[in-house]
Amino acid sequence: MDKDNHILPKDFPELQNDCFLRAARGEETTCVPVWCMRQAGRYLPEFRESRAGKDFFETCRSPEACCELTLQPLRRFPFDAAIIFSDILVVPQALGMDVQMVPGKGPTFPEPLKEPEDLLRLRTTVDVSAELGYVFKAITLTRHKLEGKVPLIGFTGAPWTLMTYMIEGGGSNTMSKAKRWLYRHPEASHRLLVQLTDVIVEYLLGQVAAGAQALQVFESHAGCLGPAQFNEFALPYLRTIARKVKEKLKEAGLDDVPMIVFAKDGHYALEDLSQSQYEVVGLDWTIDPQAARKRAGGRVSLQGNLDPCALYAPKEKIGEMVKMMLEGFGTQRYIANLGHGLYPDMDPEHVGAFVEAVHSHSRQLCQLK
Ligand code: CP3
Repeated sequence: MDKDNHILPKDFPELQNDCFLRAARGEETTCVPVWCMRQAGRYLPEFRESRAGKDFFETCRSPEACCELTLQPLRRFPFDAAIIFSDILVVPQALGMDVQMVPGKGPTFPEPLKEPEDLLRLRTTVDVSAELGYVFKAITLTRHKLEGKVPLIGFTGAPWTLMTYMIEGGGSNTMSKAKRWLYRHPEASHRLLVQLTDVIVEYLLGQVAAGAQALQVFESHAGCLGPAQFNEFALPYLRTIARKVKEKLKEAGLDDVPMIVFAKDGHYALEDLSQSQYEVVGLDWTIDPQAARKRAGGRVSLQGNLDPCALYAPKEKIGEMVKMMLEGFGTQRYIANLGHGLYPDMDPEHVGAFVEAVHSHSRQLCQLK
């Protein structure tokens, strides 16, 4: 503890289960690691109880609450990794934008960016420790409280995905307001994407310094871009993030950590993403595991990709689908996950069946090897 009673990022408990980190780094594993996007979420009754009546972003600003919510799913299921409870939209907040989580509606920006002049409303320099230090504290506290059971993943939204929220002002089916900028204001779009990239790099470095052992970059809105726009407005920034984070970790004498890029509905970019300095490419369910393996070409580890809705199936059926997924990906350089986050109406028992099926089938397949 320091003088302000903050737990410091040092003397972390020794890691007992490195299966996830080994698979992410492309090292040999004797099991297939598994975790779920949105594993800390509303499908758990204890999550709903902890969150009840509290503002979402207030919760994000409480390191103790984030720590508790991160640990909840691990008390139920033998996941091989934890992901820090937070949100991608804390970055637009750090740039000075107001974001609220409206129950039943989702994230809402009361004053979204409408025209390039609105960029002047954003902070030009962001003191990342001052604005996002609460996330770093949550990471340090959680890393201690995990007691070395499994590694802790930090994360960020990717620049394009954050730009869509900042312009749309919330969720959107077409992303037409944000895409209008790409066609009409390409130069201003690049300015915004550069600004976001700079903050994201500092933010990820701060997460590693605080104790994150892997990083995932969520490009959740890749699907509304075609290959040409992805190559111009998303991929270069994803590459810059990986390159700079790795360079700066080295300079700062911090451990290199594996990085995961998850571009939802961006399978057209799989070859490029496999050569973009990320150790792991996350996949949604719209791509066949064997086809993905071929196209990724042995350069990276893969993560995914069961359709989250498959968890609505009877438990035996979940087991069969997991078996097919594992046979398709193989047991090496592979991290089992869903192709997107868990939904609030999912049955925790079926999440348990998914995790259990990964562990039991992977044990069998690893013995057969
Ligand atoms: O368990 C985990 O995965 C860690 C926590 C996490 C949250 N959001 C918590 C959360 C992570 C990794 C995210 C990332 C995130 N947030 C993404 C990228 C992943 C993806 O889904 O593509 C995006 C696009 C967001 C933005 C966001 N935050 C949305 C669209 C929503 C849903 C709004 C709704 O009402 O359905 C959120 C809210 C949110 N973030 C919740 C959680 C658990 C639910 C709201 C609550 O708890 O009150």
